[in-house]
Amino acid sequence: MSTHNTSTPANRLYGRAKGKPLSAYQAGLIETFLPKIAIDPEAPLQGLDGFAARWLEIGFGGAEHLLHRARETPERVIIGAEPFLNGVAKCCAGMDRGKLENIRLHHGDVRDVLPNLADESLDGIYILFPDPWPKSRHNKRRILSSDFIAELHRILKPGAPLYFASDIIDYVDWTLTRIDAHGGFGFAPKNKADFLSPYEGWPGTRYQKKAIREGRVPHYFIFTRQ
Ligand SMILES: C[S@@+](CC[C@H](N)C(=O)[O-])C[C@H]1O[C@@H](n2cnc3c(N)ncnc32)[C@H](O)[C@@H]1O
Repeated sequence: MSTHNTSTPANRLYGRAKGKPLSAYQAGLIETFLPKIAIDPEAPLQGLDGFAARWLEIGFGGAEHLLHRARETPERVIIGAEPFLNGVAKCCAGMDRGKLENIRLHHGDVRDVLPNLADESLDGIYILFPDPWPKSRHNKRRILSSDFIAELHRILKPGAPLYFASDIIDYVDWTLTRIDAHGGFGFAPKNKADFLSPYEGWPGTRYQKKAIREGRVPHYFIFTRQ
């Protein structure tokens, strides 16, 4: 297992960059297919005007959700950002096999992309089961810092949704506290079932299934950018 280590401590990327070796098919896709669908992190939305809407999925893991949503809505483009090579390879394979043309990828840290997105330029963002870093001494590694939340707010259009799911209650509290303190997101659940039920059309992800298997309860939120 190798880990990322980018230059500034504030933006250091923790977690896995690579897992088991890629198959020959996957390695070929990384070599030839990925360059065709990779965004330029300096100009992330370049060439995407033809789509009806532009979304972002942060940390798509095995790409189960990303591929499913792209299949559901061919009229919108979803940019996926993921530093884990094996996840990127899975996404490329799903796109290749499913002939999907509405996904673009950033193989790396989403924080390289965010500053280059214009204000109010995205129609929605998914951040599903971000790395939990449950130990208190690791909490500061959590991606949903106050600054990060402010950046997501800046790039979302007014009225656009921010999807956030987590199975770690402490991370749920952490995020709700920061969303509330930011003040620029609407969130009005009618009852508990609202955030204990998966999103409409939810395909399931590997991480979510593991959480349930291990007895944790996934929570699903949709905040609205005001
Ligand atoms: C716990 S996994 C969840 C994956 C997937 N969303 C799911 O539900 O199965 C969190 C993912 O976020 C990715 N990640 C961590 N830091 C990231 C960053 N700075 N930018 C983009 N992705 C990141 C990790 O590589 C990992 O695949």
